[in-house]
Amino acid sequence: MKLNTIQDRQSGTARPRKRPAAFTALAAGLAATLLTGCQSEQLLSIGDMSSGYNKEIFWMSLWAIALSIIVFVGVSWALFYSVQKFREDRHDAPPAQFHGNNRLEVILVAVPVVIVILLSVLTVRSMARLNPVPVNAPKIDILSKQFWWNFAYPTVTSDAGGTVANGNEMVMPTGQPVVLNLTSGDVIHGFWAPNIGGQRHALPSVIRTWKVDTERPGVYQGNCSQLCGASHANMRYKVIALEPERYQAFLAAAKAYRAPTPAEGSAEARGYTLFMQGKASTGALACSACHRVQGTPAAAGAGPDLSFFGTRRTLGAGMWEGEEAEKNLVPWIANSPGMKPGALMPTYDGSEYMVNGKMQKGGVLTRAEIEDIAAYLRSLKLPEEADYWRGTPVYGARAGGTQ
Ligand code: CUA
Repeated sequence: MKLNTIQDRQSGTARPRKRPAAFTALAAGLAATLLTGCQSEQLLSIGDMSSGYNKEIFWMSLWAIALSIIVFVGVSWALFYSVQKFREDRHDAPPAQFHGNNRLEVILVAVPVVIVILLSVLTVRSMARLNPVPVNAPKIDILSKQFWWNFAYPTVTSDAGGTVANGNEMVMPTGQPVVLNLTSGDVIHGFWAPNIGGQRHALPSVIRTWKVDTERPGVYQGNCSQLCGASHANMRYKVIALEPERYQAFLAAAKAYRAPTPAEGSAEARGYTLFMQGKASTGALACSACHRVQGTPAAAGAGPDLSFFGTRRTLGAGMWEGEEAEKNLVPWIANSPGMKPGALMPTYDGSEYMVNGKMQKGGVLTRAEIEDIAAYLRSLKLPEEADYWRGTPVYGARAGGTQ
């Protein structure tokens, strides 16, 4: 597993060796972040000025920082002035007492009150701009569970039945606010993709609604931001922001999508049968008991939606990407709790795994059978024009390249 956070950020700028070089790099990085709003090597960044939310917070912070500087300078000046002016060695008599000096006391109360009022007004102004949720904006319903995400499009009912949904990869349009409805199926999680806006807690049996936005198409990193169990750090997702036309193309294709019917006798066909029925003789549970694949009888929601699995480039809720995801698919199906602590997916190599504090024995499939399931999963692809990864710049992945 590769942790692609801080290391990548350093590889993007000069690696600090000496102190002046490190300082220069830091200052340059800070300046670049503040002035340009981060370029391609940026990762998780609240300084991403492509998002209206981040812009608003940035300007509000500047005001707050400016006021803080004024307070700091004022208080420091008063302190040093008093220390100098009223040094004991310059004054033999006890100092004059100002208790009862009304003018001074009014000033000492009024100045902080004005500052607090100013900060309140700025905060309320930002809240008034950020909090209202537009009625006609695109909506995404987010379900968070230990340790994965499901993104559903409540206004898009698929032709095959059921609401269009995708596991662990959230597709949204650029250039407009997108309304998110967030909930949790178990414990408290935190949704945070800093490049597109603010974070929210996902609370069981509560729906939190807010909006996010970005001007720039790209693939952004999202993480769970609330400690939620053994694989909290493995609870990630991608946000793929597409230009509105491409977003519409994605929705249209997703609406029309039906999982392909595998050719008789193919690996995919064998995988399909195992996916739908499992293998009772060896205790291997059916994947369809927990997952949904649009256009098939699999319609369960206990695990992430797998309808577009072949289009996705991440595996295990963002644990692996690209080639690593590809390489890990078979071992993942065989024993996901072994690769991701606390994962509730059953094992298929006979390994024991824990559910609700009890050890359970998984079912058994042969390597060839697991490869058949993998082949079936890979065949679950959206048409080319709806492949949201194609040509979308990746921010926050390894080298930040275009796929
Ligand atoms: Cu979910 Cu941390």
